[in-house]
Amino acid sequence: MAERPYIVGNWKMNGTRSMLSEARAIDRASQRLMKVEVALAPPFTLLHAVHKEVQQIGVGAQDCHPGEDGAFTGDVSASMVLDAGAKFVILGHSERRQAHGEDDALVKAKATAALNAGLRIILCCGESEEIRDAGEAEQFVIDQLKASMPKISGNVGEVLTVAYEPIWAIGTGRTPTADDIGSMHRAIRALLVELYGEETSAAVRILYGGSVNPGNATELLGADEVGGALVGGASLTAESFLGIVLAAA
Ligand code: G3H
Repeated sequence: MAERPYIVGNWKMNGTRSMLSEARAIDRASQRLMKVEVALAPPFTLLHAVHKEVQQIGVGAQDCHPGEDGAFTGDVSASMVLDAGAKFVILGHSERRQAHGEDDALVKAKATAALNAGLRIILCCGESEEIRDAGEAEQFVIDQLKASMPKISGNVGEVLTVAYEPIWAIGTGRTPTADDIGSMHRAIRALLVELYGEETSAAVRILYGGSVNPGNATELLGADEVGGALVGGASLTAESFLGIVLAAA
């Protein structure tokens, strides 16, 4: 596992102000687990409130628009989420690729806008079940990452995190084996070395996401080249999310 594992809770379209107590509890416990970097990505409506509630953990958004401002009803720009207290943004999640038709070019444009605004990015990638069954998962994920990766200059480890999330494992209770995760993460690591060089890319953490829970976290986090986890369902209560954070500590 990475020197400082990164455990990120993606609340997706869940949470009203009543969930601020969960964020508070996660933050309080994380203050005693400094070996792990912990973060939450609540919906836009809770970004500022969660930011105000917490001291230790990072707060990020789940999406941003590629533009600066303008007539884009319902959209939120990178500088707006930064202003609300976000330090990072999750981009290229398969739920946005599938439900909102986001392609690699749009993900890249969003990532560029986020970096320009001063946000860190968590860039998601992952194959469908059909692609895995066809034996094309690694090639697909590498091509997807190449096409959605923004131009990054300077210290790539400070601004970029990659999250590998096989679509068939998201919210299903099914997970790849630790061996399969390890070989995908090694392929992603090789791409990062090719793009940014060995030394610079070493600090980029590659998270695994897809049905991570307190019961399987130790095994999944122990897979080769896994630098942490992007957690959906199990991040919605402090009890289950902290079980995963503890497994990483
Ligand atoms: O962003 C998180 C992932 O989509 C994983 O979600 O933990 O509910 O499977 P899940």
